[in-house]
Amino acid sequence: MFQRLQHKWKVGGWQLALILCTFALGGSLCGWLTRQIITPLSIQSSLLYGTLYFVILTLLWPICVLIISIPLGQFKFFRNYLRKMGNRLGFGRASADEAGDGLIHLAIFASGTGSNARKLMERFAQHPKARVSLLVSNKPGAGALHHAADLGINTLLIEKDRFSNGDAYLPELEAAGIDFIVLAGFLWKIPSALVAAYPQRIINIHPALLPNYGGKGMYGRHVHEAVIANGDSESGITIHYVDEQYDHGATIFQAYCPVLPDDTADTLAERIHALEHAHFSKVVEGVVSEILD
Ligand code: GAR
Repeated sequence: MFQRLQHKWKVGGWQLALILCTFALGGSLCGWLTRQIITPLSIQSSLLYGTLYFVILTLLWPICVLIISIPLGQFKFFRNYLRKMGNRLGFGRASADEAGDGLIHLAIFASGTGSNARKLMERFAQHPKARVSLLVSNKPGAGALHHAADLGINTLLIEKDRFSNGDAYLPELEAAGIDFIVLAGFLWKIPSALVAAYPQRIINIHPALLPNYGGKGMYGRHVHEAVIANGDSESGITIHYVDEQYDHGATIFQAYCPVLPDDTADTLAERIHALEHAHFSKVVEGVVSEILD
């Protein structure tokens, strides 16, 4: 049971002991205070006494637990714990921190070579606010999966029908405590169940200046071939929120690069990749940092 709690709350043994002490002491303080308030009222009816006792106890409990958590160094845990509990009961907006450990847990969806995924995993490896907790891919053997294994990050291989027409793997994402999703070279359309479960919490990178060269089939070298065929003198990258349509949600960031007269899809892809590597993980960090503030 203790191990399950440690896993659920993502805490070590020593912190778990402090958390359990906080619950015990906070509960005792709450019971004592409730009796101090209710006894002088000399209530005769046991029904009224019981109801009042229950109401006061319920109202005081979060306050008592928070007070006790301060000297035990567990205020941050309990603030998140109570916020999450309030959200479950329908108070307040959905928490940005599903796991309640003060960190934003990211899942990266990637099916390509995974160069962007790797940059992201490296940037968040020791980050004070966020971690990459899961790498999701639909392609067995994808480079992104190897990068994740190399960096000790859990992976999940998904299958089309369940993702697009089933539960979108929400149980697995929830079990991993995922708060935020980053698409880094993921080509399937994101089903509405997933968009609804992560509102404004899924972002994508696209290797062109949206709204141009987006939509189904517009990925990787297809994009660069189209840009060159069109004679454009400029291309770039777009980082945007994801909605139910391909390459469509609100733009967060764009960066530009020239298209040179002798460019091929490969040379342009190289320039675009360099732009992505320079900006993507930094932009994700900015977005993620804002949601915890
Ligand atoms: C990136 O260029 C990304 O913009 C693109 O896939 C590549 C993945 O590269 N995404 C799309 O085309 C989405 N429509 P990587 O595997 O080396 O990170």
